[in-house]
This record gives sequence, structure tokens and C-alpha cells, in this order.
Amino acid sequence: MKRKIALLIGATFIIFSCGKDDVVTKTSPYSLIRPDYFPEITYPLENNPITKEGFELGKKLFNDPRLSLDNSVACSNCHVKGVAFTDPQHNPSVGIFNQIGTRNAPMIANMAFQSEFLWDGGVSHLDFVPVFAIENQKEMGEELHHVVYKLNKIPEYAPLFKAAFPGIDTITSPYMLRAISQYMLLLVSDKSKYDRVQKGEDVFSASELTGKAVFDQKCAACHSGALFTNYEYMNNGLDLVFMDVGRELISALASDLGKFKVPSLRNIMLTAPYMHDGRFKTLDEVLEHYRSE
Ligand code: HEC
Ligand code: HEC
Repeated sequence: MKRKIALLIGATFIIFSCGKDDVVTKTSPYSLIRPDYFPEITYPLENNPITKEGFELGKKLFNDPRLSLDNSVACSNCHVKGVAFTDPQHNPSVGIFNQIGTRNAPMIANMAFQSEFLWDGGVSHLDFVPVFAIENQKEMGEELHHVVYKLNKIPEYAPLFKAAFPGIDTITSPYMLRAISQYMLLLVSDKSKYDRVQKGEDVFSASELTGKAVFDQKCAACHSGALFTNYEYMNNGLDLVFMDVGRELISALASDLGKFKVPSLRNIMLTAPYMHDGRFKTLDEVLEHYRSE
């Protein structure tokens, strides 16, 4: 009898201690690995350490159309996984009620190394980019506080938020935004042939080396470094008259008229259409533009 009670107490203890550890206090850290030839990480990870639970929650939110006004458009509608999180179908992007936007959805990769976002650099913290998308009338058309209200009413979210951010009772927007950032931060693109060469695991062929020499001479002033961008705002000669004023919208400087953020050229085979307004459908068209410039 005594043994039985002892066993029972032991079993109860195990159940309680498991429950406490697993559900309430423990998260599993995920690390963001920066290849040594990449630029420094700019995202303040100390304020939002990445965990498996936070990443999984962020992924679910990214794919959830309930973040939009009529529950029809998720982030993933315009940032499609198989094509480096761009939108191959729509040019420019299409949001709720089939409204057509003005700009082409950029790739989402290597966000941890960037400090200004959107084609004009109008947002300077990754956590706030989703607010821009959610509240943009032509994208998701919602209001941030209403999205949070909706999430609090969906039963499946409460435990996921508690697992990702132990100790919180209510879902609030900072936690939602941190989770989405955790997902985006781990989308690191570092598996191309270029990367294998940088790591000493492969070599460029003769024709690749010829291409590289031309690239270094004609393109690398702007598309520089391991991410193939200097992250500056430049005019690459697309227009004389500007439908979209670009960086000038943010800086209010006439000298920024028609300048756009130099985009990274990683995954470039996947990210058509090209340019801020997606005017070129193929890389041949892009090269033709630079050739005739
Ligand atoms: C209707 C299509 C659409 C939806 C939905 C959408 N985006 Fe975007 N996204 C865009 C477009 C277009 C841009 C570029 C906007 C600009 O430059 O003004 C962009 C830009 C971004 C960028 C900046 C990338 C860079 O390199 O500067 C990030 C990050 C991003 N979106 C994340 C998200 C997240 C997270 C969501 C969901 C909360 C989302 N997007 C929903 C179309 C969309
Ligand atoms: C003066 C700086 C500059 C130089 C030099 C330059 N680019 Fe660009 N590139 C840009 C800018 C800025 C954009 C975005 C323009 C826009 O969308 O309005 C861009 C866009 C692109 C894009 C489209 C990427 C996307 O995701 O839409 C490709 C591809 C590209 N450049 C390739 C090249 C190649 C190849 C060369 C060399 C032949 C080159 N660029 C030279 C500044 C430059």
C-alpha cells in the first residue's frame, strides 16, 4: 500500500513537473546562422530571441488569411514560398477585393541583414513591415487592433502564443509582430553555388568566371557583396518621367526622385517579374535594359 502511494505521488510529481516545464516555461531556442562572408546582423535579436515556438507561430500567422479584412489574403498570397517569397502571378501585387497595388512584391530572404524595408526604405524595423501590409487598403485592408481582437477569439491561437512567449495572458500586437519577424528572420538564403564557392566547396566554371568579370565591372557597384546589394537608393535609368517617385516619397528630397532600393539579386531566377513595378518578365528583358542604357 505504502509503495503504491509513493508511486502515485511520484507519478503525480512527474506529470506536474512535465506539464510545467513543457507548457509554461520552456521554449527551444533556434539560432540564426550568419555565414562569415555575409554582412552583420542588423535585427536586434536581444529584444526578440528566436525560438522554435515563435518561428512556428510566425509561420502560421504568415499563412493565415484571417489577418486581412475579409479573411481572404494572407502574407503568403503575395510572398509565395516556392519562389523565394515573391509573387510570380501578379504584377503589381493584388490584395483584398482583387485590388491592384502599385508595386511588385519583393523577395523575403536575408531580412536579418537589412535595416530599411520596402522599395523606398519607408519602414526601418522589420517588426513594423507587417503593419504596413495589414493596414494597407490595397493589401490586407485591416486595422492592427482588430486583427489582434480576431486572434484572441480564435481558440487555437492562445496556446500557441503562450508557448512562444511564456507568461503572456492576452495576445497583443507586439507579440504577434515579433512572431512574424522570427519566421522571416530565419529565411536565410545561403545555399547557392556562389555560397558553395565562398565556402571553398566548389569552383566557378570558365563561363561563370567570364560572367562574373562582366558583373563585377558593370553591376557590382550597386549589386555588391554577398547579398548583391549595397542597400542604397539608386536610379538605374528605367524612366525619365516617374509614375512612382520612389525614395523621394520618404526623404522629400528632389535628388531622390525616381530612386529605389537596390534589390538583392539572390534567387533571381525565381523572382520574376523584375523591378519595383514588375515591368520586366524575364532576365533577358532586364539585361536588354542595361545593355541599351
Ligand atoms: C497584396 C500583396 C501583399 C501582401 C498581402 C503582403 N505583402 Fe509584403 N510586400 C508586398 C509589396 C508590393 C511590397 C513592396 C511594397 C513597397 O515597396 O511599397 C512588400 C514588401 C514586404 C517586405 C519588405 C521586403 C524588402 O526587401 O524590403 C516584407 C518584409 C513583407 N512585405 C512582409 C509581409 C508580411 C509579413 C505580410 C503579411 C502580414 C505581407 N508582406 C503581406 C506585397 C504584399
Ligand atoms: C546604378 C546602380 C545599378 C547598377 C550599376 C545596376 N543595377 Fe540593377 N538595379 C538597380 C536598382 C536601383 C534596381 C531597382 C530599380 C527599380 O525597381 O526601379 C535594380 C534592379 C535590378 C534587377 C531586378 C531585381 C528584382 O528583384 O526586381 C536586376 C535583375 C538587376 N538590377 C540586375 C543588374 C545587372 C545584371 C546589372 C549589370 C549589368 C545591374 N543590375 C546594374 C541598381 C543598379
